[in-house]
Amino acid sequence: MKKVKIGVIGCGMISEIYIKNCTERFGNVEVVACADIYLPAAEKRAAQFGFRYETVEELLADPEVEVVLNLTIPSEHSKVSMRALKAGKSVYTEKPMAIDKAAGEELVKYAKEHGLFVGNAPDCFLGGGLQTCRKLLDEGIIGKPFAAQAFMFTCGPEWFHPNPEFFYQEGAGPVLDWGPYYISALVALFGPVKKIVSMGKKPKDSRVIMTATSPKVGQEFPVEVPTYVSSLMEFDNNMMANVTLSFDMHYPYWEADMPFLRVYGTEGSMDVPDLNKYEGPILVRNNKGEVTEYPLQFGFTENSRGMGLSDMANAMRNGVTYRANADFGLHIAEVLCDIQKSAVDSKEYVIENKCEIPEQLPMNLPDCLYQ
Ligand SMILES: NC(=O)c1ccc[n+]([C@@H]2O[C@H](COP(=O)([O-])OP(=O)(O)OC[C@H]3O[C@@H](n4cnc5c(N)ncnc54)[C@H](O)[C@@H]3O)[C@@H](O)[C@H]2O)c1
Repeated sequence: MKKVKIGVIGCGMISEIYIKNCTERFGNVEVVACADIYLPAAEKRAAQFGFRYETVEELLADPEVEVVLNLTIPSEHSKVSMRALKAGKSVYTEKPMAIDKAAGEELVKYAKEHGLFVGNAPDCFLGGGLQTCRKLLDEGIIGKPFAAQAFMFTCGPEWFHPNPEFFYQEGAGPVLDWGPYYISALVALFGPVKKIVSMGKKPKDSRVIMTATSPKVGQEFPVEVPTYVSSLMEFDNNMMANVTLSFDMHYPYWEADMPFLRVYGTEGSMDVPDLNKYEGPILVRNNKGEVTEYPLQFGFTENSRGMGLSDMANAMRNGVTYRANADFGLHIAEVLCDIQKSAVDSKEYVIENKCEIPEQLPMNLPDCLYQ
């Protein structure tokens, strides 16, 4: 099958693993060019992987590029994606698809009207960890699931990112930055969300860049969004979940001593592994209180960013459905935007844009995913 040719826009931190996986691993995609508003960033990635770099305008006009992989910052996602669609390219975008519902709806509408594809990160729910959880839950390992609790408690990105300011601006914060992992995992396991209500706090009005390698280390910058947000949601299947997300802790999230996501069922509970990763462990507690670790039954357990893009490329060539699709991304974006709004006004929001539960991946897929 002819590979789908990819042009990357946004050559920052996360672009390296995407390009590496698309270049060395996934069999049905090929990165042919990259661009960035800061041209030296594109030049660096192009030299590292051996393809051309271009200005954003050149890449959008490049006839070889079929899909734009949009790895810009959240506030730019929907604008860059819309420019790509209007240039006749399909798009796979980093999360969230859009930072307001109307922009997301406009994107999806335009793509559907023009026969173009839109896909969205995160694709961690396609990893071996979450796919195995889904299979075990569908098999009834904890009986009938009725509730879930999720926690993302961490120090802020000013501790590891060279340019952490965007994480505290409108369109980011723990809700729009980390929330996508949690909400997409919940929706991939239990289906769409019916309604949400939240409360949020902003303990600090400014932060300081602590990343030692950043040229801006020591600089203070403002915080625009709530950084401790707790949300209560109900799903169309009548399950409920509490999701609490915070950048106000004094340790990294993996030291938080809280479950990432615990699902409660009529016959036991399941601790779902790190939602930002693709691996295990999966721990199940039965109704006698005994805890068992279940082996993973699916592959793709290391950093497999780009799986969702490869899955979309397969859909483009073979006319099948893809999992991290436009409806899924729009639903997640609407839930996140409403959690953020509710964190400020404490109102209840009913979710309007719905999606299907993404189809389970087949077991024993080859390491290259698709040829
Ligand atoms: N860094 C991570 O660990 C991580 C993990 C998962 C997802 N993400 C997501 O990936 C995206 C990018 O994150 P990052 O860490 O690579 O950020 P980054 O700041 O390192 O890189 C973003 C790049 O996009 C470029 N850019 C910004 N606006 C642009 C525009 N309009 N046109 C062209 N280029 C533009 C910037 O110049 C920069 O080089 C974000 O949405 C982030 O949430 C990041």
